[in-house]
Amino acid sequence: MLDSRQFTLYLKRAEIEEAVVKLAEKINRDYEGEKVVLVGVLKGAFIFVADLMRHLKIHTEVDFVRLVNKGKSKDSAGTICFQKDISVDLKDKHVLIIEQIIDSGRTLHFLYERLQKSPAKSVEVVTLLDKAEKRMVETPVKYVGIESQDQFLVGYGLDLEEENRNLADLYYLKYPN
Ligand code: IMP
Ligand code: MG
Repeated sequence: MLDSRQFTLYLKRAEIEEAVVKLAEKINRDYEGEKVVLVGVLKGAFIFVADLMRHLKIHTEVDFVRLVNKGKSKDSAGTICFQKDISVDLKDKHVLIIEQIIDSGRTLHFLYERLQKSPAKSVEVVTLLDKAEKRMVETPVKYVGIESQDQFLVGYGLDLEEENRNLADLYYLKYPN
């Protein structure tokens, strides 16, 4: 389990749930009577997608994409590409990209541009967490759950070297490298 010398509690599950419910209420209002395809960004968003969609009262389909950043190093932002592309038909459908967290915005920008070129009726972005001060590439984000500081977060789907995604609360790393 987590070492409390390294990790500090950031948000309890009840606070996360509150943000998820508020987002769902907004989406329910904005898309009343519509059908929406939720496109979750793996791996981080899988828990958020599962929680969010159970509060949605609109017609939904769900799909997931997995993006990888190849060649990312200290001096290079790398090249983003699909490891798993969309597999549902988006023609004339409203799409909501579901992100767990936006940092530099590069991953989201890549996906947003790709979906803009698809035959979808509309494309909007939902993120649970937003580190707006870290943004390098701008993409319009319609739904933001929680504005976060520049801290490395783990739990509720977010990992530190692939571990700790299962934690129900969110923590931040005290001493990131
Ligand atoms: P971006 O392309 O810099 O916006 O990075 C987005 C991706 O980096 C997210 O989808 C996460 O997978 C990962 N990421 C960004 N910030 C954090 C964090 O604080 N904790 C864990 N993963 C993060
Ligand atoms: Mg990660």
